[in-house]
Amino acid sequence: MIPDEIVERVRQSADIVEIVSEFVPLKRSGATWRGPCPFHRGKNANFSVSPTHGSYHCFVCHESGDVFTFVRKRLGMDWPSAVKFVGEKVGIEVIDTPRRQQAPDPNAPNYEALSAAAEWFQRQLLDQDVGNAAREYLTSRDLDPHAWQKFGLGFAPADAQALRRYLHSLGYDDARLLEAGLLVLREGETEPRLRFRGRVMFPILDELGRTVGFGGRAMGDAQPKYLNSPESPVFQKRRTLYGLHTAKQAMRRESRAIVVEGYLDAIRLALAGIEEVVAPLGTALTEEQAQLLVRYATNVFLLYDSDEAGQKATFRSGMELLRAKASVQVVSLPDGEDPDTFVQSQGRQAMELQLSNAIDLFDRQVQLLERRGWFTDLRHRRTAIDKLLPTIRAAREALTREMYLARLSEATHVDKATLAAEAEALPEPGMRRGTTRSPGTSTGYDMGNSPPGFDGPPPDQYDGGDYAEPAPLPPPASEQRRPWTPGRKKGYKQGPEWQATNVPPRPRRDEPLERALVRAMLVDRGIAERVAERHPPDAFREPRYRELFGTLLHAPLTDDLEQIAERLSPDTMKVLRELTDAGAYEAGAADIGLTLGKLDARQLETRVDEIRGAMRTATREEQDALMRERLELEAEIRRLVPIRSPRGRPKG
Ligand code: UTP
Ligand code: MN
Repeated sequence: MIPDEIVERVRQSADIVEIVSEFVPLKRSGATWRGPCPFHRGKNANFSVSPTHGSYHCFVCHESGDVFTFVRKRLGMDWPSAVKFVGEKVGIEVIDTPRRQQAPDPNAPNYEALSAAAEWFQRQLLDQDVGNAAREYLTSRDLDPHAWQKFGLGFAPADAQALRRYLHSLGYDDARLLEAGLLVLREGETEPRLRFRGRVMFPILDELGRTVGFGGRAMGDAQPKYLNSPESPVFQKRRTLYGLHTAKQAMRRESRAIVVEGYLDAIRLALAGIEEVVAPLGTALTEEQAQLLVRYATNVFLLYDSDEAGQKATFRSGMELLRAKASVQVVSLPDGEDPDTFVQSQGRQAMELQLSNAIDLFDRQVQLLERRGWFTDLRHRRTAIDKLLPTIRAAREALTREMYLARLSEATHVDKATLAAEAEALPEPGMRRGTTRSPGTSTGYDMGNSPPGFDGPPPDQYDGGDYAEPAPLPPPASEQRRPWTPGRKKGYKQGPEWQATNVPPRPRRDEPLERALVRAMLVDRGIAERVAERHPPDAFREPRYRELFGTLLHAPLTDDLEQIAERLSPDTMKVLRELTDAGAYEAGAADIGLTLGKLDARQLETRVDEIRGAMRTATREEQDALMRERLELEAEIRRLVPIRSPRGRPKG
């Protein structure tokens, strides 16, 4: 007896094309693969394998099935052996236990408690008295009882004890309810409390349809708008997609997946009959969610809100999807609309029209830059290329990458081979260096490392990060104390007297790296993005520079330094004042490359230190390997920082 969960995992991880290819020579033909049928020993390519449906079919002998059927019939195995055979290929251990010996799932009580809570919440919603306000709220949002039922919506009343008493009566103690995230224990208190009170409840199911958590929406203006279950043994936000359980069949059937931002967006589309829709828990997709999604459909439509946060999330999600080898389309809704309001007012056909007008992620990026005039002169064209290269690097699928290179070449009139070399010169930026990218925090907004912005003002209002050119020139001395703003900077550049007298000096040699970089970012905000490609703010060690960097990176380009200052802690604000006071504009942008190199080197130094530590306890063989690694690292460090500072290592 193999647990269903394992069978499903093996099925979803298996690449049916790869497995069938071991026995049948297959050739791609659109979305499917074709070859001679091994069952009736056909000569022509009548045997078709569909990776999206995970199935095969012969048009002549009508033999058909999934990856397990194929292995079973082709190799004459029984079913459990076929599952084990495929499991081995995908690295999942398949343990076949007689039914009664099957070890109980240690998480079973968590699932049970959560599903008991979900049922209880549903009953409260239907209850005449307590559920009154919630019913009114949902009705006001145009959700009827059929929708409540379909999505298991419920209501958590304000009563501090009712759910707790009910779950106790079913045998779940406080420890269990804490683990499942239904209770919280506040700091300094001894009595746990119910997490969700006075909220409309959206149960979150995992891929297999088990309740793993909740999103609780406030009915009024209470903050946060959505309170979500915390991470728990059964609920990992970065691996969970809202709606996946109901959407997965539709995704296979329709060969496409649609990603929206919110619970309600997903519900609204599904109610309108567009069922292949999921929402990440947090605004941008994580790597894990992207991989989960492409198991069902590789053609993914990003349908985010039309606001700026939505656009950022679109590009960030798009990059993850490209890495997962998806083909990524961007749907743009009219200003001010989200999928929920759009479908509600315009209906399904209008939404289908928007979907059919979707454009490829890369095309969308090129289009945004083109519209804003980034390709009109050489200097900005260079920056535009730099902004687009990360997307090409993210595109792991060979054909997609080719097409992107061709498109970029067409837009810039730069030879495709040159662009390809440029794309390959750098590995993909340090997006997954194990730093914590936090999806689905309680605000739901992932403040991770965003890909270079496509949302900035046109180039004549903004000098995008271009290292090869000198930094924008400093303001006249009389104005140096006034905070810099993108708009004013342009004015300064036109001041002829100033151009003649102020040559930006090089950064002071002994200035700490992080400070030098932050200073350069203040002069040219594009530099923040460039640095973030290799070293996200988390990599900065000094907390105030880290904060300033992070804030600059995420602030809209239209914000001036005063607006940015308002978001900083007092200490960091002081640093900002220092840096923008006289002398702030010394940073020579041409040196940023070297400074960045030093930052790279610093990271490698950390590893060298680790190796030094590890040498003591390592075995003989390990020592050899460590030594080799250390020598390589040191050579790399020498390359990055040709002139070492007297103290022998790059400073931070
Ligand atoms: P939205 O603010 O777009 O909410 O957040 P929404 O889904 O459109 O909800 P309505 O229409 O205002 O009721 C999108 C998603 O971000 C997460 C939730 O998953 C939400 O569905 N989020 C948002 C939170 O987790 N917490 C919040 O406070 C806000
Ligand atoms: Mn909404």
